[in-house]
Amino acid sequence: VTNETVLAELVAIVGEPHVLVGEAAQPYLTDWRNRFTGKALAVVRPESTQQVADVVRACVEANIPVVAQGGNTGLCGGATPDASGRSIVLLTTRLNRIREIDTANDTMTVEAGCILQMVQESAREAGRLFPLSLGAEGSCTIGGNIATNAGGTAVLRYGNMRDLTLGLEVVDAAGQVWHGLRGLRKDNTGYDLRDLYAGSEGTLGIITAATIKLFPQPVARCTAMLALPSVEAAVALLARARAGFGAALTGYELMAGRCMQLVTHHYPHLRLPFEAASAEAPWFGLLEISDSESEQHARDRFEAVLGEAIECGEADDAVVAENITQSRALWHLRESITLAEAESGKSIKHDISLPISRIAEFVALADARLQERFPGVVNITFGHLGDGNLHYNVGSSEGFSGSDLVAKQDDIYALVHDTVSAMGGSISAEHGIGQLKLDELGRYKSAQEIKVMTLVKKALDPRCLLNPGKVLQAY
Ligand code: FAD
Ligand code: MLT
Ligand code: ZN
Repeated sequence: VTNETVLAELVAIVGEPHVLVGEAAQPYLTDWRNRFTGKALAVVRPESTQQVADVVRACVEANIPVVAQGGNTGLCGGATPDASGRSIVLLTTRLNRIREIDTANDTMTVEAGCILQMVQESAREAGRLFPLSLGAEGSCTIGGNIATNAGGTAVLRYGNMRDLTLGLEVVDAAGQVWHGLRGLRKDNTGYDLRDLYAGSEGTLGIITAATIKLFPQPVARCTAMLALPSVEAAVALLARARAGFGAALTGYELMAGRCMQLVTHHYPHLRLPFEAASAEAPWFGLLEISDSESEQHARDRFEAVLGEAIECGEADDAVVAENITQSRALWHLRESITLAEAESGKSIKHDISLPISRIAEFVALADARLQERFPGVVNITFGHLGDGNLHYNVGSSEGFSGSDLVAKQDDIYALVHDTVSAMGGSISAEHGIGQLKLDELGRYKSAQEIKVMTLVKKALDPRCLLNPGKVLQAY
């Protein structure tokens, strides 16, 4: 089968305007961080599950790999094809319908290409909350969120994307559709296929729709930014917040002072809400609770716990948002770190998780080891402390250039990931593996786990045509 024949077949399935080649395909061939650029036969934009199934069948028959892509905001190069030019990129953004909102069941059925923010807004209009929340929410898609099992800033209270997903519709490597859009909270009928596809990064099937969980809108929210003396203090304050707020604790983020300096340097219109001394704190926390009683109830609880934390020296200062605008401004500071970090040049990103009890020890040890081996690198550490998940990123400085940093990526990975692994942690908490961490997975996942994962992959995708070379080595 020639490329021309396949392209003609794809045009027949989705229509000519939706088979992009040449210049029109370029924006979809480089990842968000500009770390990977690939080539593709075409970028294909189906608009229905049937079209996805037809596209996959046509590609499989012609031995053409299929790389699923949603918003292309992934941080591990998972949605970028390889350099061979053999693959097609299957763009899901035209699968953008909300199929159903069932308020009695607190579920919503949405197509995979729906943008996360649009899903949040639709839930809000129906008087419900869809809680997944992350910096890329204006561009990332539900399909991408499920395929990467995205986390974000509300996992502490609501769980990650896998926990928020009840049912799926998936096109497999044979172009057949699994109609699994069940809105059931209990279903023990054998192996859980939802769990298999969540986090599979386009390597086991193309997700075309999902039934996801909704929650009541909280009556009140309180947000505070805290100036913290140390990571130990941040961990102690987390325990206090858990005990004091229980299930109302929605988010607990940690940010090194350097992260806030990057944000205010690159976006001078953004300001830290503290006076001079506190604005120079080594660490900051962002804490949010959601209350189901009243604004006053929330505020009283909030101020009591924060007051105790300051008395005990766990926090040096706290700024409580007075209204939703102020709360958004605090979150905006936090959500701007990724962009400010990207503006500041090359960095080596880590997305690690550890038992929360070992986080402070990890930061101290890894910081010391890094300075010993790579003097002059800087730490850009932030993350979802409430989940034990840190973005323990390493940046350049005048003493350690960006190009040196990239040249040393493997050594820096090894140092950080060896430290994480020795403490019982994970080398990818929420971003996935993609192509960026393929070798790292081979290093840190046990042989037994890799064997079982490979058996699953070969059973579901015997010709290795679904996103080859991502998560597992291509065969
Ligand atoms: P893409 O980037 O298009 O794809 C990601 C992977 O999923 C690829 O392997 C792709 O092949 C696969 N895929 C996409 N759609 C499908 C589908 N329909 N079926 C099968 N496979 C599919 N992540 C977090 O977990 N927490 C955060 O807090 C967070 N914050 C971020 C902030 C910023 C500024 C940015 C740029 C990214 C952030 N991310 C975060 C990364 C995160 O993985 C993505 O934002 C999001 O989950 C990916 O969605 P996407 O639609 O862009 O997927
Ligand atoms: C975040 O927590 O902001 C995201 O995971 C993005 C990042 O790590 O840069
Ligand atoms: Zn994150």
